[in-house]
Amino acid sequence: MDNNNLKPEIILEKIWANLEKAVVDRKHEYHQLYFSNINKESMPDTRTVILRNFIRDKKNIYFHTDLRSNKVSEIKKNDKCFLLFYSQKLKEQLRMTVVSSIHYNDDITLEAWKKTRLMSRKCYLSNNAPGSLSEIPTDGIDLSLKGIEPDEKESEKGYSNFAVVVNKINMIDWLYLSSNGHKRLAFELKNQSWKSNWKIP
Ligand SMILES: Cc1cc2nc3c(=O)[nH]c(=O)nc-3n(C[C@H](O)[C@H](O)[C@H](O)COP(=O)(O)O)c2cc1C
Repeated sequence: MDNNNLKPEIILEKIWANLEKAVVDRKHEYHQLYFSNINKESMPDTRTVILRNFIRDKKNIYFHTDLRSNKVSEIKKNDKCFLLFYSQKLKEQLRMTVVSSIHYNDDITLEAWKKTRLMSRKCYLSNNAPGSLSEIPTDGIDLSLKGIEPDEKESEKGYSNFAVVVNKINMIDWLYLSSNGHKRLAFELKNQSWKSNWKIP
């Protein structure tokens, strides 16, 4: 990255463009991200999730989850969460503080559900909740679906377990790795506009 591109507005524009690209490009390294929250033991917890949507105007990042998973009740209790992205190719790390909310059985969820593939819907068909104990190693899905994808009718049963987590960004910590000297820039949303400060990496 040459010095001409080291302008906060250009960096922010590139961040948005990469997130938009990563929603549709499964090979983009930002297609997979790491979501952290405070769990019920008041401890930080992190897991991998898939970037399903990003709406620039709303500054919202979306991923899908099972309504019965632990993170859902935890987010309802404490909505201050954290997202982490890293791309080796871009030599860039993004850390974001977000306010998260859970959507289920509403317009946002229905629109997202309609776009899901049958194989993805299968994840929402387990009989017991994610994280619940099992006597045997199993995905908890009916044996009749072993190795196959559910048909449309069967897949619809998963909708009652389907939730969308919407994460509103309020801070971005951008880190760019370069042999020319790493660069770090912090963006904070204040009165609907982004203020930025350079930091020592
Ligand atoms: C590559 C990959 C992608 C994943 N994508 C998601 C996802 O989009 N949503 C999700 O809830 N869990 C996803 N998981 C599973 C989570 O990492 C996690 O194990 C699960 O959601 C249970 O988390 P919890 O018990 O903390 O709620 C993914 C795991 C991997 C390895």
